[in-house]
Amino acid sequence: MNLQNATALVTGGSSGIGYAIAKTLIEAGARVAITGRDDKRLYKAAETLHAVAIRADVSSEADVQRTYREVLQAFGHLDILVNNAGSGVFKKLVDMDLAGFEAVFRTNVTGAMLMGREAAKHFMTRNKGNIVNICSTASLRGAPNGTAYYASKFALRGMTECWRAELRQHNVRVFLVNPSEVLTNFGNVAGFAQKENETKLRGEDIAHAVKAVLEMDDRGFTPEVTIFATNPKD
Ligand SMILES: NC(=O)c1ccc[n+]([C@@H]2O[C@H](COP(=O)([O-])OP(=O)(O)OC[C@H]3O[C@@H](n4cnc5c(N)ncnc54)[C@H](OP(=O)(O)O)[C@@H]3O)[C@@H](O)[C@H]2O)c1
Repeated sequence: MNLQNATALVTGGSSGIGYAIAKTLIEAGARVAITGRDDKRLYKAAETLHAVAIRADVSSEADVQRTYREVLQAFGHLDILVNNAGSGVFKKLVDMDLAGFEAVFRTNVTGAMLMGREAAKHFMTRNKGNIVNICSTASLRGAPNGTAYYASKFALRGMTECWRAELRQHNVRVFLVNPSEVLTNFGNVAGFAQKENETKLRGEDIAHAVKAVLEMDDRGFTPEVTIFATNPKD
């Protein structure tokens, strides 16, 4: 697809990987709307990026429906959904609390489904479209403390495969993108400090991969891309 004048909606575009994806798509000539729950961060990011800001929680069905009303009002149509909003809780199984577990699934799984569902309806009427699910290398194998987050990303991987099977016949391309560790605000939100090191991935690296897979001609697509740091040091 040609990103010049394309329209995109990036959930969680107010920070980290989503922000970098929004920036890269805008630099490529796309019109982009970003979402997030924190007003201040969202409006500041949107102003810097020259993006449309939509304050919305992906896990709220009412917010999701309003998001699509606002994005279609702003752009007239949508070409790309980037399902990026996500968060993590990292605890041993024996310490896992129900509220934390459910909060991760509400955003990473239910939220992605609600956003994907509304995009799919729109894309099916247009007989084209693109859904990029920002997943994780956590969707590829388990690890200690991963009960909530890793399982949510396994679920996102599973949904992605189902959507792909349903939507290909409508010319909708569904991509899964698996970053390994990226330096963002993710660790702070999850309650751990990521160690800064120049060898670790940045949001721009993930944005580069997203732009590259989208730009392939619509007759084909790369179902899945995994991004590793070459030689990361802690
Ligand atoms: N950083 C990594 O190492 C890494 C690795 C692999 C995959 N990922 C994935 O990459 C995605 C982005 O993470 P990040 O590292 O960029 O983290 P981040 O810097 O914390 O950004 C997360 C973004 O998602 C938004 N968000 C969170 N919950 C939301 C909700 N319920 N509704 C709407 N927006 C919500 C946040 O804004 P508000 O809090 O204001 O809503 C923020 O804009 C996530 O899906 C994450 O799982 C990250």
